[in-house]
Amino acid sequence: MYEWIKAFHVMAVIAWMAGMLYLPRLMVYHAEAQIGSIQSETFKLMERRLLKGIINPAMILTWVLGLYLAWTAFGFKGGWLHGKILLVILLSGIHGFLVGRVRAFAEDRNDKSPRFYRIINEVPAVLMALIVILVIVKPF
Ligand code: HEM
Repeated sequence: MYEWIKAFHVMAVIAWMAGMLYLPRLMVYHAEAQIGSIQSETFKLMERRLLKGIINPAMILTWVLGLYLAWTAFGFKGGWLHGKILLVILLSGIHGFLVGRVRAFAEDRNDKSPRFYRIINEVPAVLMALIVILVIVKPF
């Protein structure tokens, strides 16, 4: 049973990360598009669907299954696990920030530059690399 839960945890992680890497990339182009243009309206639709259809449910599933694994197999003990949970909280914070940006774009009140979204785009990638090292290598 544990291995099955882990398999679904990793599937949820892949879906969440795919969305977290793609959404800010969409915003780089959206920030360059003219307000009211067809491109801008299309980006709004893409952002909303990606968020509601993939990123939000994948994050919830990742958390629920991850907490189950942490509780049943490790009793929430281990430096690597505490480090991992801390980094996942940071990742969830970025997620929350992006939800706010989707709303701002939807209401045509984006005030950030394409460069800003390009930089934000790197953060989930760095966090993901650190999280995977912690859970696989378990260095402490
Ligand atoms: C709070 C949320 C999370 C918790 C509590 C959690 C906890 C866990 C636990 C306890 C395991 C089992 C480790 C083992 O059997 O050795 C696991 C597996 C795994 N987790 Fe998470 N996780 C969370 C979120 C994430 C995220 C966001 C990622 C990646 C970005 C991730 C990537 C993985 C991977 C790749 C594995 C498989 C490791 C293996 O091969 O054993 N997890 N997780």
